[in-house]
Amino acid sequence: MNIWIIGATSGVGSALHQLLLDNGHQVFTACRRTPLLPTAGHLSWDATTDIPSSEFLPNELNGVVYCPGSITLKPFIRLSADDFLKDYQLNVIGAVRSLQAAHKHLKGAQNKGGASVVLFSTIAVSMGMNAHASIAAAKGGVEGLCRSLAAEWATMNVRVNAIAPSLTDTPLANNLLSTPEKREASAKRHPLGRVGSAEELAALANFLLSSDASWISGQIIRADGGMSSIKML
Ligand SMILES: NC(=O)c1ccc[n+]([C@@H]2O[C@H](COP(=O)([O-])OP(=O)(O)OC[C@H]3O[C@@H](n4cnc5c(N)ncnc54)[C@H](OP(=O)(O)O)[C@@H]3O)[C@@H](O)[C@H]2O)c1
Repeated sequence: MNIWIIGATSGVGSALHQLLLDNGHQVFTACRRTPLLPTAGHLSWDATTDIPSSEFLPNELNGVVYCPGSITLKPFIRLSADDFLKDYQLNVIGAVRSLQAAHKHLKGAQNKGGASVVLFSTIAVSMGMNAHASIAAAKGGVEGLCRSLAAEWATMNVRVNAIAPSLTDTPLANNLLSTPEKREASAKRHPLGRVGSAEELAALANFLLSSDASWISGQIIRADGGMSSIKML
């Protein structure tokens, strides 16, 4: 398969890049830094700027995974309108621009098994969490985009799903996991007794990209160590 990962230099995107290469797929990338792993084509691009060029993408693109995201944690009263706009820009508009650029390439795979789009939300959309107003609002936009696009692109044989993780051990979460005490407190909040790993989210994204998920679209899949649906008594 030909897969485009936006945000392949860190965390989940980097783990997915490795997994796809291990499975013999062609990986195209876009982000600000250049990935260390081999790519079939890389675009140096900032998701907060303009529509990315798509000339480097193949005519038949089987998947797009949009990884850039933020964890903006502040009490609501200290959040500025600019904080909300920045989160929306990176999490929603960056995805919109990438998918508009990918559109004709995804369409190219319509009669060759179709294509799959994977977006990232957060568990903080379905669970109210204090200090999460800005990122929850932006990722709420991602979830709306996911369902709307799943409807609109179904006729094009493109599936669109989103993963909604809880805290996962990646560079993005460094500040929240920077001491043994913080790590332990975070682990305890999850019924499975630990935070997630980049590899676990990459495995889920890999499944959603694959033909094993060929009848799944418009879904927001929670990967959260049981946190949003289990109460330990
Ligand atoms: N980690 C968690 O605890 C957690 C929890 C809930 C949801 N999520 C979501 O899961 C997704 C993956 O997160 P992660 O933890 O893997 O993040 P990460 O480690 O920060 O990786 C993000 C990737 O996106 C790229 N990126 C960031 N800003 C960019 C920009 N302006 N333009 C282009 N590329 C950009 C980065 O590459 P460059 O720096 O090279 O540009 C990097 O490769 C995100 O959407 C995040 O919101 C994560």
